[in-house]
Amino acid sequence: RVTRHYKFNIQMQNVTRLCQTKNIVTVNGQYPGPRIIAREGDRLVIKVVNHVQYNISIHWHGVRQLKSGWADGPAYITQCPIQTGQTYVYNFTLTGQRGTLWWHAHISWLRVTLHGPIVILPKRHDSYPFPHPFKEVPILLGDWWKADTETVINQAMTTGSAPNVSDAHTINGLPGPLYNCSAKDTFKLKVKPGKTYLLRLINAALNDEMFFSIANHTLTVVEADAVYVKPFKTNIVLITPGQTTNVLLTAKSQHPNASFVIAARPYATGPAAFDNTTTTGLLEYKTKASLSKFNTKLPLFRTVLPKFNDTVFAMNFNKKVRSLNSAKFPAKVPKTVDRRFFFTVGIAILPCSNNQNCSGPNNTRVAASINNVSFVMPNTAMLQAHFFNKSKGVFTTDFPANPPVKFNYTGTPPSNIMATTGTKAVVLPYNTTVELVLQDTSIIGAESHPLHLHGFNFFIVGQGNGNFDPKNDPKNFNLVDPIERNTAGVPSGGWVAIRFLADNPGVWFMHCHLEVHTSWGLKMAWVVQDGKRRNHKLPPPPSDLPKC
Ligand code: C2O
Ligand code: CU
Repeated sequence: RVTRHYKFNIQMQNVTRLCQTKNIVTVNGQYPGPRIIAREGDRLVIKVVNHVQYNISIHWHGVRQLKSGWADGPAYITQCPIQTGQTYVYNFTLTGQRGTLWWHAHISWLRVTLHGPIVILPKRHDSYPFPHPFKEVPILLGDWWKADTETVINQAMTTGSAPNVSDAHTINGLPGPLYNCSAKDTFKLKVKPGKTYLLRLINAALNDEMFFSIANHTLTVVEADAVYVKPFKTNIVLITPGQTTNVLLTAKSQHPNASFVIAARPYATGPAAFDNTTTTGLLEYKTKASLSKFNTKLPLFRTVLPKFNDTVFAMNFNKKVRSLNSAKFPAKVPKTVDRRFFFTVGIAILPCSNNQNCSGPNNTRVAASINNVSFVMPNTAMLQAHFFNKSKGVFTTDFPANPPVKFNYTGTPPSNIMATTGTKAVVLPYNTTVELVLQDTSIIGAESHPLHLHGFNFFIVGQGNGNFDPKNDPKNFNLVDPIERNTAGVPSGGWVAIRFLADNPGVWFMHCHLEVHTSWGLKMAWVVQDGKRRNHKLPPPPSDLPKC
């Protein structure tokens, strides 16, 4: 086993996009941030030094953090932020995972510029369960905002229906030629005819699920959220914020001099505002780029991606993703369930007096909630409070297992749109098997919610449209080869059922990975207790753990 050291200097950097220069928060001056490469089983020691005026914390999205919850990173959940001038060393081992994950800031909306890939290669002498690629290429989908991050959040917090949309989508930080003066900022992937490439797709966008496609090329999906999947071919990949998807791309042998469009744009189902613009890059079969020949009027742009609200495509795509479930990589789906939960997830507009003193978090008009609880961030880290038995006044353990009013969505807003606020968690004994149904309420708009769970992979055993039917839907659950993920898209007006084994003691955040919904309160925490044996306990915190 190897230990790999990285140093992340958090520093400001001038970056120009869309003809405007902006001073942004970066790691080591890079945007997007540096790539972490390791092998399965390696230990990572990442020293983060904060040189900027903002509080910082970094999350290693999708890394299981088995008994290393102190290194998970969400601010006020597992740690207090790293303050200006402070240093924190994230120290953890990559156990039982290989594939693509990513890291991002987990405080405020700073992840918009603070993010980068984590590439976990198979153990030395281990191979992929698919043809070995000639080259591997991380592809981060992101977005660019002309306004500074603080302005963007404030707008999101105070306005009703999210008029705050990004100014461009990006591929590896580059908007591409469909945006004003961005032709020179175009991602280019140069390929050799006949060779196979592994594209490691990461959706780092703040608020948009994305479709991704390469004109005239078929992609083979081989991995999702660092879990091998049964390979399947598709022209379009759907990827929610937080998710990662590895695809194989085989360069054609008969196009030695051609260029093809790489395109990504949002999948969105509601009337709510979103950035529906398209970011493009180029797949080039020759060494010299000829951008003058890049005709943005090609019908290609209209045909290459589905309609922005193609829910049928989305549901079908998500159903196709299944665990490889081979002898070497079995899907260890919990076959029995100790505890069942039913969570409604949604957004509601709350009463205000004169448009002020509204009842949402920080007096906002809009609240997002799980089982009608709109989560309020504590002032100190929940994990420390839990570990030292000082949770009183920090959080309560009465997060409801079911919504306050039985959920029955009929197309008109049900009576249970009123959200209460609180810092509430569910407590699970060590090794509890959990089944959780996440039901979208679609009270305003009809957006899907990419729900992300820290500290675990879960199995998506079922999904469907409309109301979950507790009698009949479980009969169709897939307990054989469901996909194992850390982020699941809860379909707009539909549900997903997940199962996981609570074998990781600590405090684990669960939230919508649309930043705007998280800010409005669509989040909660699970507290997983220590087991009896010594190696079933969370070790004490490292001495440099930041203080609030
Ligand atoms: Cu990728 Cu809690 O986040
Ligand atoms: Cu959401």
